Amino acid sequence: MAAHEAREMVRHLPFLSLGKEGRAMRLQTDRLLLRPPERADWATLIAMIGDYDVAKNLAGVAHPYTEAHAREFYIRADESRAKGEGWPFSIYRKGDSAYIGGVGLRLKDGTLELGYWLGRAHWGKGYATEAARRALGFAFHDLKAQSVWAGWFHDNPRSGHVLEKLGFRFTRSEPRDCLARGQAVNCHLTTLAREDFGRQRKSLGAA
Ligand SMILES: CC(C)(COP(=O)(O)OP(=O)(O)OC[C@H]1O[C@@H](n2cnc3c(N)ncnc32)[C@H](O)[C@@H]1OP(=O)(O)O)[C@@H](O)C(=O)NCCC(=O)NCCS
Repeated sequence: MAAHEAREMVRHLPFLSLGKEGRAMRLQTDRLLLRPPERADWATLIAMIGDYDVAKNLAGVAHPYTEAHAREFYIRADESRAKGEGWPFSIYRKGDSAYIGGVGLRLKDGTLELGYWLGRAHWGKGYATEAARRALGFAFHDLKAQSVWAGWFHDNPRSGHVLEKLGFRFTRSEPRDCLARGQAVNCHLTTLAREDFGRQRKSLGAA
């Protein structure tokens, strides 16, 4: 993203005025609840994200994933939220309150990045698309973002398809470090503009 675009985007982000309540915001969809990560979930977090098939598709998740990594994750989640630099959410299924994964937005160099993952047992049910769409609603409605970007590793077409369903458009490919694989992996970068998200919501019949 060009520097002037990044500056333009930041100008529109009212992060500092979100207040304590806004930072701890809870979101919901038809089937899911999104809440700030809770330390009580640490064992399930380690079991789910400790799965190499999950970790290898994320940029910054170590493998093996230890208790120390989980502890660091919760500390960073609290800090980034408090600083207005990140909005990590844990995903819970409404029916049985099961903790099934995570979705979040992260501000870096003036741009907002979307990330998401689910425990292996919960793939293929549309949960990622549903959770990510709600997080994008938060980005565009509450944070007043002008655009959001996301990247997917070339050998993870499932995630590429999630982003396509959400209306993201390909911008370019570049190598990105993957902690779990211990090497850089070709990553497809995509962006979703505010107008495109708004158009999509209208066509889905949303208010
Ligand atoms: C990527 C991930 C979040 C997807 O979660 P999910 O809940 O299964 O996703 P959804 O069900 O919402 O959508 C998946 C879509 O991909 C499609 N799909 C499945 N396998 C696919 C493949 N090999 N190639 C292309 N599309 C595929 C599904 O059919 C579905 O599309 P549809 O609704 O049109 O049928 C999940 O697999 C995951 O956590 N992976 C590991 C972490 C990760 O990759 N995170 C994203 C980093 S960019």
